[in-house]
Amino acid sequence: MARRTVVSMPGDGIGQTVLPEAIRVLDAVGFEADYVHADIGWEFWIKEGNPLPERTVDLLAEHGLGLFGAITSKPKNEATAELSPELQGKGLVYYSPIVGLRQRFDLDVCIRPCRSFAGNPLNFIRRTADGGWEEPMVDAAIFRQNTEGLYGGVEWTDPPPDVRSALESHPKFKRFADTPGPDLAVSSRIFTRRACARITRAAFEYAAKHGYPSVTVCEKPNVLRETSGMLEEEARKVKEDYPDIQLWSTNIDAQMMWLTKSPEDYSVVVAGNMFGDIVSDAFAGLVGGLGFACSANIGDEVAVFEPTHGSAPKYADLNPSIVNPIAMILTAAMLLDHIGELDRAKAVRDAVAAVVAEGKVRAYDMLRLPGGPDVLAKGAATTAEITDAIIARLA
Ligand code: NAI
Ligand code: MG
Repeated sequence: MARRTVVSMPGDGIGQTVLPEAIRVLDAVGFEADYVHADIGWEFWIKEGNPLPERTVDLLAEHGLGLFGAITSKPKNEATAELSPELQGKGLVYYSPIVGLRQRFDLDVCIRPCRSFAGNPLNFIRRTADGGWEEPMVDAAIFRQNTEGLYGGVEWTDPPPDVRSALESHPKFKRFADTPGPDLAVSSRIFTRRACARITRAAFEYAAKHGYPSVTVCEKPNVLRETSGMLEEEARKVKEDYPDIQLWSTNIDAQMMWLTKSPEDYSVVVAGNMFGDIVSDAFAGLVGGLGFACSANIGDEVAVFEPTHGSAPKYADLNPSIVNPIAMILTAAMLLDHIGELDRAKAVRDAVAAVVAEGKVRAYDMLRLPGGPDVLAKGAATTAEITDAIIARLA
């Protein structure tokens, strides 16, 4: 394999802690790469009025491969208040740079694998009828449409007159017709056939490649007939090319119930942006939560890999760090998968599995301790110790 260049975007808070840990693992597994640092996050919002500087976009366009840590986001008004004085009053509006990256590079396919590791004390367990308990192994991958739907950003409070009159042309708008503009907020849910076709094809392709028996569309087509309906329709078309893979359909609300009853029944799940966000967090909770949840954002030209957790400001300044690097390390394994380094990806996951199974080196979250500097005295390992243990297990 040719030497790769990876754009490293640690971002804010614990993003700066966990990303270098993942690079240590990538180095140790023999992945030959150069890492170029790119600026992203809160610091650049405050200093430059842009949390996603153009130079970062350029680096990603050039190299096509990004590892991202986490960023800090704050509500609109709070964000404006923190801008440096010379940038105040210029009408700058904060937008999340990770959402920006997804839209900028059309990273429309988001993959969030959620797999139980044997021996993880955070795994989902359930009661059996005879009063005992069992621990079903979860092995699901959520495919979330990443650029459209409710997160597409087409929204208004007090919609402009042309939008208002377009809304009024819909018979169902009658009920809202008397609502004054300032009291009316609208967030649109736009789906395109192209994106529905791409996310469902990516889901089936993944199922075929990894030997999963089914793809479940998780939407709400009985109510959201147009948008959820289009996703289902495209899934049915794609399914014709995969005769051996079953196509199931569940409603998001029912799915949330089913996954706490029988999560082992689901393998590849595909959903629009918001429902995909929800259902992937729910699945992640069954396999260890934020300390384990990895993800990929994939487009045609660029792919960016990130843990799903945020910047955890509470723990960002603890020295030594106590946060769990496993989510970020599994994220790095997804990067390896993406570029065809399958053996190295597997070696990383096997090493994580071995450390979890052995149970000697555990972050505070795995010990179910409230976070804080005292967790080390209570037997929790530091972030670096967990990485060290994983590196020691690399075959
Ligand atoms: P968070 O994910 O940062 O933290 C939630 C909880 O999980 C906290 O108790 C945190 O300490 C813990 N946690 C997170 N990652 C962990 C890890 N690797 N190991 C152990 N414990 C971990 O979410 P929160 O607190 O809602 O948001 C904090 C900031 O992060 C906000 O500014 C938010 O906007 C941002 N955020 C950024 C995301 C991103 O960069 N993709 C995603 C989610 C939140
Ligand atoms: Mg989320």
